[in-house]
Amino acid sequence: MSAAKPPTAPLGPELALAGSVAESAEVLVIGLTTGTEGPEASVGDALDDATAEAVLAGLVAVGATGKAEELTRIPAPAGSGVASILAVGLGDPDDVDAQRIRECAGVAARALTGTTVAATTLSVLDLGAAAEGFSLGAYTFTRFKSAKSAPKDNGKPLARVELLVEEPGDKESTSTLARSAAIAEAVATAREFVNTPPSHLYPAEFAARAEALGTAAGLEVEILDEKALEKSGFGGILGVGKGSSRQPRLVRLTHKGSGGKSVALVGKGITFDTGGISIKPAAGMENMTSDMGGAAAVVATVVLAAKLGLKVGVDAWVPMAENMPSSTAQRPGDVLTQYGGTTVEVINTDAEGRLILADAIVRACEEKPDYLIDTATLTGAQMVALGNRTPGVMGTDEFRDRVARISQQIGENAWAMPLPGELRADLNSKVADLANVTNHRWGGMLAAAIYLKEFVAEGVQWAHIDVAGPAYNTGGPFGYTGKGGTGVPVRTMISVLEDIEQQG
Ligand code: BES
Ligand code: ZN
Ligand code: ZN
Repeated sequence: MSAAKPPTAPLGPELALAGSVAESAEVLVIGLTTGTEGPEASVGDALDDATAEAVLAGLVAVGATGKAEELTRIPAPAGSGVASILAVGLGDPDDVDAQRIRECAGVAARALTGTTVAATTLSVLDLGAAAEGFSLGAYTFTRFKSAKSAPKDNGKPLARVELLVEEPGDKESTSTLARSAAIAEAVATAREFVNTPPSHLYPAEFAARAEALGTAAGLEVEILDEKALEKSGFGGILGVGKGSSRQPRLVRLTHKGSGGKSVALVGKGITFDTGGISIKPAAGMENMTSDMGGAAAVVATVVLAAKLGLKVGVDAWVPMAENMPSSTAQRPGDVLTQYGGTTVEVINTDAEGRLILADAIVRACEEKPDYLIDTATLTGAQMVALGNRTPGVMGTDEFRDRVARISQQIGENAWAMPLPGELRADLNSKVADLANVTNHRWGGMLAAAIYLKEFVAEGVQWAHIDVAGPAYNTGGPFGYTGKGGTGVPVRTMISVLEDIEQQG
């Protein structure tokens, strides 16, 4: 078995505060808003008035309007200290908020492949958002490109961003940048896990890499292998994993915190989902490398919580299995016993995520957390209901709404969805306590959540975030999001943890 090798290459550009444009900077990225009298530039103190005017005139001369995400690159006027200016449209000045800046910084970063050092004034508008946008936008995944196809110089991602601020030595700027850099690193960590192919990331390897990251961040780490899972009766994880020669795991990563509330995180870690005996169609099956997106986000978030020194206790539970068809796989009609004793008739082996999550949720609830967030690439129905970029949140009413609100504030945009009571009866089984699917396709995202609800202990405030579409971008790049893993919902979860730290 290969030893855990957490990636050694940096997962994004170096970020630094600066008071003026450094000599090493090749390009200055500025924001352009639409104004009634033509576009307006925001350059802070980076350029003197005459140079700023010349830059704006140059941009207008080549057709820049300032509409959102528009990119215009011009040679820099003499004396500006850089070779070129890249203007990114921010749209209507009334609509410029953190998310707009994050998206536009990402658009700029993606356009700057081949550039080593960029300076930007977007940080004058919102330092944290600009830092996150540049860092997330510059992330690429090239670990499996050999010399034959690896990006050459002009295709290499942006290596360093100098974020211009009025007082670069200032305590507040320093801590804002440190937080944003840590968040961007966590998102990149989750993306890296998702992007690593199933040939290289299988349960034991995923567990070992999670352990390496957790240990380095000072977390307590516990890994249950197949024998330990058997001993304690984790029938859901074992049932899903038994079709594969690569044995399942349950990883626990604990950030102790220092008093205050406790939060359990649970993430679906199916390192590849063929569907099992209820096998999926071949077209698009390769995307099921993303079926551990929830697990990746949970691992990255608990590590981030430790790095940020959050006071809340965070107990992360990550069930990992590979869902394969074979002579040892579970069959439609099999009955398994979830951890804690609930028996389940497995009608469809492709509804495997809820089986591994249920075990982990019951185990997590034994520790009596105040809150529990689980996240998973759980249902195709999530995409039918909400599309590719909008996670669905279900759970106990108040906490569900709080998670959705926070997610919308930070730009991951999760949307609250109901758990209609009448669907519960559709999960009744003739032979066991529950069936793992309903016998119809209506409200598939909600039915999956209703299944999970059966396993959440009384009194625990619970949110379930279905990220089937949002965790993995199969289309073209947009904003700060490239192809492949997106890291959603890392930023939602860390912001919820911070909110709980502040509000209880
Ligand atoms: N991993 C899939 C859900 C999924 C689909 C994630 C597409 C990302 C993109 C999950 O395990 C699954 O197969 N769910 C089934 C459930 C059904 C059998 C009730 C689905 O959504 O079809
Ligand atoms: Zn499945
Ligand atoms: Zn799945």
